[in-house]
Amino acid sequence: MIGIDITVIARIEKLLEKYNTKYLNKFLSSSEINIAKTSATIAGFWAAKEAASKAIGTGIGKKCSFLDIKISKTKQNAPKIKYSKKIRKKYNIKKSYLSITHDGGFAIAVVVNKLK
Ligand SMILES: CC(C)(COP(=O)(O)OP(=O)(O)OC[C@H]1O[C@@H](n2cnc3c(N)ncnc32)[C@H](O)[C@@H]1OP(=O)(O)O)[C@@H](O)C(=O)NCCC(=O)NCCS
Repeated sequence: MIGIDITVIARIEKLLEKYNTKYLNKFLSSSEINIAKTSATIAGFWAAKEAASKAIGTGIGKKCSFLDIKISKTKQNAPKIKYSKKIRKKYNIKKSYLSITHDGGFAIAVVVNKLK
């Protein structure tokens, strides 16, 4: 199962100017906020979570919230993604893979799930 999303970085910047951390808390955990230092990275994380919700076919909503999707980084700065236990169980997910890129004002993310 695969999901993709594109996010305009300026849209994230506008929302950050308006709402600051209140806005970040809506879709990022405190550990994700700690590693997301730039608006491009934050836009990438937004795209990653939307892509992850597409990879299970639900979109973001009641079945899968932003906080059901957890992003971290390796020492080499590669992004990693993991769904909450509830989601992994429900959708039979063994492991998830994430790739992020940003250029020209856009952030793009792709998520692939390996099923059990
Ligand atoms: C990793 C690399 C391919 C990123 O490519 P890029 O064109 O610079 O940047 P992109 O916008 O396409 O991608 C950036 C995203 O790639 C992801 N990324 C970074 N390092 C990564 C890695 N080692 N593996 C997988 N993904 C990685 C991150 O999500 C990053 O965005 P974020 O930090 O905002 O989350 C590139 O920096 C590279 O080749 N690095 C290794 C070589 C190098 O930089 N050497 C210098 C030290 S010796």
